[in-house]
Amino acid sequence: MSTARVNALMAQMTTEEKIGQLIQLSADFFQNGQAEITGPMQDKNLTLDIVYSAGSVLGISGAEQVKNIQKDFIEHNRLHIPLLFMADVVHGYQTIYPIPLGLGATFNPELVRQTSEVAARESAAGGVHVTFAPMVDLVRDPRWGRVMESTGEDPYLNSVLAKASVDGYQGDLPLDKEHIAACVKHFAAYGAPEAGREYNTVDLSEWRFREQYLPAYAAAIEAQAMLVMTSFNTLFGVPATVNQHLMRDILRDELNFDGVLISDWDAISEVISHGVAADLAKAADLALTAGVDIDMMSFAYAKYLEKASKIDEKTLNLINEAATRVLELKEKLGLFEDPYRGLDVNAEAKEVYSSTNLAVAQRAAEESIVLLKNEADILPLQKSMKLALVGPVVATNDLLGSWSWQGERREKETLAQVFDKNFENIQVEAGCNYHSSDSISEQQAVAAAEKQDVIVAFIGLPSSDSGEATSKTDINVPKEQLALLEKLVTLNKPIISVVVTGRPLDLRRVSELSDAVVVAWFPGSKGAVAIENILDGTVSPSGKLPMTFPRNIGQVPIYYNSYRTGRPITNTPEDDINKYQSKYLDCDNSPLYSFGFGLSYAKLGIKSVDIINDNVNDEQPLVLEVTVINESDFSAKNTLQCYTHQLTGETVRPVKELKQFKKLTFAANSEQKVQITIAKDLLSNVHTDLNCYVDSGKYEVMVGFDSDNVITKSFKVE
Ligand code: BGC
Repeated sequence: MSTARVNALMAQMTTEEKIGQLIQLSADFFQNGQAEITGPMQDKNLTLDIVYSAGSVLGISGAEQVKNIQKDFIEHNRLHIPLLFMADVVHGYQTIYPIPLGLGATFNPELVRQTSEVAARESAAGGVHVTFAPMVDLVRDPRWGRVMESTGEDPYLNSVLAKASVDGYQGDLPLDKEHIAACVKHFAAYGAPEAGREYNTVDLSEWRFREQYLPAYAAAIEAQAMLVMTSFNTLFGVPATVNQHLMRDILRDELNFDGVLISDWDAISEVISHGVAADLAKAADLALTAGVDIDMMSFAYAKYLEKASKIDEKTLNLINEAATRVLELKEKLGLFEDPYRGLDVNAEAKEVYSSTNLAVAQRAAEESIVLLKNEADILPLQKSMKLALVGPVVATNDLLGSWSWQGERREKETLAQVFDKNFENIQVEAGCNYHSSDSISEQQAVAAAEKQDVIVAFIGLPSSDSGEATSKTDINVPKEQLALLEKLVTLNKPIISVVVTGRPLDLRRVSELSDAVVVAWFPGSKGAVAIENILDGTVSPSGKLPMTFPRNIGQVPIYYNSYRTGRPITNTPEDDINKYQSKYLDCDNSPLYSFGFGLSYAKLGIKSVDIINDNVNDEQPLVLEVTVINESDFSAKNTLQCYTHQLTGETVRPVKELKQFKKLTFAANSEQKVQITIAKDLLSNVHTDLNCYVDSGKYEVMVGFDSDNVITKSFKVE
């Protein structure tokens, strides 16, 4: 659906100029407001003419800088076609909110929408046009470092949050200048590398891919995300970036995606290493045929420039198709009217770190924090308590997390400062580093703790241990930190462990040694305040695990929505005598903490679940009325979760699948009725012919505040 302006431009463009639109360069090509080919880029065989015909650039931001580069670029580009500026605004531009896994834990789509909206406002003022977000890869393996960039293991939660995030970045269409285009990534199934090893093979049946991995991408595309990024991995035996079935049949034809498809960084040339192309020219042909419009930094599409006058008609058509899409995106962004769209030095200064934006970041951080254990209601802490703050995080205040590159390390408040402001007496002694310790520091921490009432241990991993290329085979809390806890426990004082992490960890020992365990993820710019507010009870924790926390690495991959097996355990004494069951000899099947789990300070219970309509058809959804009681003086948010199970199907069905959730505030000492509806089409599943539809028959619905402790009822689908 190209516009008159795009058609007119295309008619004037040379083949070289069209190819230029398909090339994305990194920031290195633009220095001091001008195009330059600097040292590291000199071997790329590009001339300045080519650089000035490029369609887009990644990794540059800041109103002043973008303005200068754009001005210089337009002056040098023959047809004055503006450059597109793309960047990884993953969990905030400069005001950083929790990592996406933490946002998953909020179970709060509206809040997720707001965080993306804040990021859009800030980065639009800073000259960014497109963000490489949201990342919606379904993740089930904590060995993979990029689980931090995803909202977790559940297709439904991921889908709802993917839509929320796209809505936040893009706002109501057409795009206005306070919003930016979203690029959903990484298509597809990048979150399932074998053994959690980065860039490793992904091999899923198409049935399983469609059941669990595809829905979140589809939801983002349905929400009209303007771009899609390919993934590094193989799928169905072919690297995704050149996979015609994936990109043409599924993405374009089935999901009706008509936006820009961009490769991941260097992913086109990597198909040579994958062994499906012998050289760069062949790699370019494969990617273009699969429908990849923009080549991010592999310089494969630049190969077409060498033979631009001799390109065959089929390739020329593909180039036209791709260049048109890139120009259409520029048109949608309003760049032809205003190549400086949105950028504004004053607005950027005003937006970045504004009190409104920080308030959203703080709310998101508070709602992301998950309380896993609270023995004898040790939390919340009283402000008169004397606290010892220990652990490596209290020294580093490394709370922003990976992919916060524009996030200036501007947190005003360190953990020590915030706790000092709120508690009468604190002592701070880290006691160890993340991965090393010495006996003197350890002794100092123990000595400090000895004088105090309660020990708060800020433990976990540094941000450099999560994100891209951070796969690990060990998900234990580092031994130096456990050794510190072992020493502290001999003091017989309550220990609160606050775990800062971008991935699920094996928390068995931490949980044994602690009276309370809190998972804070990487909470962002307002992380210190949010953690303090949770610990002192200003806010009741409401985060829920978006990924299962295993008992040990051997259980991985482990996730709540597993399929039924032929020899399931029965959770009865029979399990002790029957060897031939789907289980381990040396470990329970159950995880340490399940998906959806997270405690509250309020004493909430489900009094009853009544089915208002148990006969579901096209007109009549499943309707439930849930009565919740709060028998405490805490008014608290919590998430009611609703799972279903299809008793028999053509294919095996998961033991439970999240189909609806509602995050609500439950007033102190109250009883509240909550209505939940599940429309029939939410019950659809993928069949052996790969079609997705709803089966009639018997189902169960399970309601709870987590995925384990549920009340089960039956219903029918006509
Ligand atoms: C990552 C992408 C990212 C891109 C650009 C790649 O290495 O896989 O997620 O958007 O770099 O920074």
